[in-house]
Parts: sequence; C-alpha cells; structure tokens
Amino acid sequence: MEIKFLDLKKINLLHQQEIEERILEVYRSGWYLLGKQVEVFEKNLAGYIGAKHAIGVANGLDALRLIFKSYVELGVMQEGDEILVPANTYIASVLAITDNNLVPIFVEPDILTYNVNPDEIEKHLTHRTKGLMTVHLYGRVSYNEELKNLVEKFNLKLIEDNAQAIGASFQNIKTGNLGDASAFSFYPGKNLGALGDGGAVTTNDDDLAGCLRAVANYGSNEKYVNKYKGLNSRLDEIQAAVLDVKLKYIDDENTRRKQIAYRFCTEILNKKLILPEIPENTDEHVWHLFVIRTKERLLLQKYLLDNQIQTLIHYPIPPHQQKCYQEFSHLSLPVTEKIHREVLSLPISPVMSDGEIEKIITVVNQY
Ligand SMILES: Cc1ncc(COP(=O)(O)O)c(C=O)c1O
Repeated sequence: MEIKFLDLKKINLLHQQEIEERILEVYRSGWYLLGKQVEVFEKNLAGYIGAKHAIGVANGLDALRLIFKSYVELGVMQEGDEILVPANTYIASVLAITDNNLVPIFVEPDILTYNVNPDEIEKHLTHRTKGLMTVHLYGRVSYNEELKNLVEKFNLKLIEDNAQAIGASFQNIKTGNLGDASAFSFYPGKNLGALGDGGAVTTNDDDLAGCLRAVANYGSNEKYVNKYKGLNSRLDEIQAAVLDVKLKYIDDENTRRKQIAYRFCTEILNKKLILPEIPENTDEHVWHLFVIRTKERLLLQKYLLDNQIQTLIHYPIPPHQQKCYQEFSHLSLPVTEKIHREVLSLPISPVMSDGEIEKIITVVNQY
C-alpha cells in the first residue's frame, strides 16, 4: 500500500464529529465573517501561545505581510529599510518583505539546524537594519540566547515566521511569543491545518495589534472610515471553528510527531543519509517536516517512490535564485544552496500507523 506524503483526509477525520458539528453551527447561524467563531478561536490561540493578542487573517503570507505593513504604517519601519531573513526559507517569508518595499538581507543558516546562524548576522547589519525575521523551519525553534542578545543589542524588531512550528517552545515560551510579532499559517498541511486557507498574527504590542486589525480590514476600525490603505484579509468563521476544535489536540498530535521522528532518527542507519538533529530539549521541535539530506536526492526519491513511499522537497530552489528575484541572483550563499540541493522530506504525520513507520525505516535502510 502506498504511503502518502500527508493523508489530510485521515488527519481531519480524527475529530470528525466535533468538526462537523461546529461547521453546521456556522452554516446555520447565517454569520460567516468577523463573528463569534473567530473571536473564540483568537482568544484560545492567544491563550495557548501566551500572547496578549491573536488576530485571525486569511493565510500565512498575509500574516507576515500585515506585520510589515503595520510597522510601516506606524512609522516603525520605512520603505528601503533592511530586514534580515534566513536565505533558506520558504519564498513567502521573503515575499512579505519585498511586498512592503523593504529589503531582504539573506543570512546563511546553520547546516545542523537549518535555522539562521547567529554568527552570520552581525556582518550584515547597517544603519537601515530594522528587523530580523526568524523562521522556525521544519518545526524547529529558531531562537537562542545569541539571537536574543543580538536583537536587544541592535534594537531590532524580531518577527517570527511560525508557519511550521505551532506548539514548539523555548525555555517554556511558545514560538509565537518569542519576538515582537509572529505569523502563523493554517494551510491544510500544517501541524494545525484548516480546511482551506487561514492564518494569524500574535503579538503583545497593543499598537501593532490595533493597527494590524484595521489594516487587515480595509484599513478601517470604524465602518466606512479608513485610516490606512488596507487589505481585506480575514479568517472566515468556518475555518476558525475548525481550527478551534483542532487546537485542542495540537499537543497530542505534536507528541506523536516527536515519537515518529525519534524512531526515524534512531532506527534509520543508512550511512548515505544525513538525518536531522534532535534538539537536546525536545520541546524545541514539533517536526512539521522530517528532512534528510543526501547527495543522491533524485535517485533516493525515485527508489522510495518505486517502493510506494511519497516524498517532497522543501525546497528545491532558494529564494535568491528564483526567477522573480533576479536582483538577488548574483548572491553566493553556499550553505543555503547546498541545503536546497540535498534535502528530501520523508512522510511524517500524527496519523501514520506503526506499520507505515516501520516500512519507511526498512525501505530507507535497504537503499
Ligand atoms: C515558512 C513559511 N512561511 C510562510 C508560509 C505561508 O503560509 P500560507 O501558505 O498560509 O500563505 C508558509 C506556508 O506555506 C511557510 O511554510
């Protein structure tokens, strides 16, 4: 039997009755946007993260765009200001920066963690550096004492791209509450996935929260009165209701992911492969993706597919080499480029059976 990369149907059938009841409630209520469901979910998400504010928005990219747009509206950032961002991230992190006429400064990652390398940051600082976007890539916390000190020393806004790491924490503080503002994606394949698009911003900053809520609503706090040139970016009632059910189970599901990752890391013994590192503190990884590295990526991917195991590549082309970013094509980022050449993601999800886990281990070991 084929092992899918991600079985979304199975994941969402886990809580079928509760989800169907909440969807029906919305359907029958006649109220589909900016209502009770979003309000309840925002409250529960803020409580879970430990942040003062949570604001539901249309998707993860919008969550990031809105953070920067609000900082520009508030005068905290100005067009042309520089934002440090890991060079090996998903394109959305960078799109949110350039969409606001800010300048992404690509920072090389640490080859062991795949997260931004603090030692690489200081050389990029200029008088225009206003922020650092840290991306908890693949579900691993990208935060430590060094980053904390750098951000404080140089007075940078710390923006978390928390699209992949909901539920992870650093010294008992959840991702989404480590910086000044954080973006979440509820894309269906994420650890907390909606039945369509969804996103959120968390922050403890009252000014930012107030501005962002307005910017996401055509720039308006008061109907037909527009303070900012805003967007329309809302989480809808149905998605909020579904997410509110699934939020209750996120810790259990992340625990299952950790168990699977532990088995992969200890039972896959194939020397041709580089396995991901398990952080000393297991709270610091929620294993959104299980990413291995090999110089023979395409061969391995084909072999696994021949053995009915689907894999994906996160991500084949780094942002600075994308066609849309010709202006960055001259950059040489060897660590980033190596990662993008070699990574391959094995299936991992809370609904994988022991049989599937064992099959993956056996087949990979036989490669
Ligand atoms: C790291 C990262 N940032 C941002 C996003 C954007 O989220 P969305 O797809 O909800 O727009 C994603 C997910 O796609 C992501 O993985």
